[in-house]
Amino acid sequence: MVGKFITIEGIDGVGKTTNIKFIAELLTSNNHDVVVTREPGGTELGEILRDLLKADRQMASMTELLLMFASRAQHVAEVIQPALTAGKYVLCDRFTDATIAYQGGGRGIDLKKIKTLEQLVLGNLQPDLTILLDAPITIGAERSKQRSVADRFEQENADFFNKVRQAYLQLAANEPNRFKIINASKELNAVQAAIKQVVFSE
Ligand code: TMP
Repeated sequence: MVGKFITIEGIDGVGKTTNIKFIAELLTSNNHDVVVTREPGGTELGEILRDLLKADRQMASMTELLLMFASRAQHVAEVIQPALTAGKYVLCDRFTDATIAYQGGGRGIDLKKIKTLEQLVLGNLQPDLTILLDAPITIGAERSKQRSVADRFEQENADFFNKVRQAYLQLAANEPNRFKIINASKELNAVQAAIKQVVFSE
């Protein structure tokens, strides 16, 4: 029995949290066993790494990249792989595509280096479905601003988020079978109707 690995991606503030809850409820009401988790984080150690990554202190891009993959290695070993092996659905808030978009697109780290780490840490493990919530960066920035304190990523400028968004769109164009792009600038009802269609067309 093999479960299904679904990831949700997008720039900060596109509504991932609300929509992950919605997808989890959809799947649960269809009698699937669902594990909801996130990156960086998802394990005790990973959540400590998450705090380190988000804290407002100097961090070299390569350190950031390696900590993302350290968190991911633990997450796969402790949570994701065991759940998939047990036939569960894993719904993950961000995965390796976020590294390609943020550390590759945003920070400018060579994609080959990221791919080398991906191979080392994940082997052939890939999401079965990736939902990209896409919206212009002004929408994301507006929603992020409503949160109390901006973390190290949320403090980045428009140029950074434009590069991240473009990297996500490029990834989706390269892998149209795995990626489904949802226009997240629409009303929540419309976004969720589109998500429902994507989840159940699989
Ligand atoms: P979030 O889970 O609240 O969206 O915050 C995670 C932050 O970490 C977000 O700004 C995106 C960033 N991130 C990366 O830069 N690379 C990654 O590989 C992942 C998983 C997240």
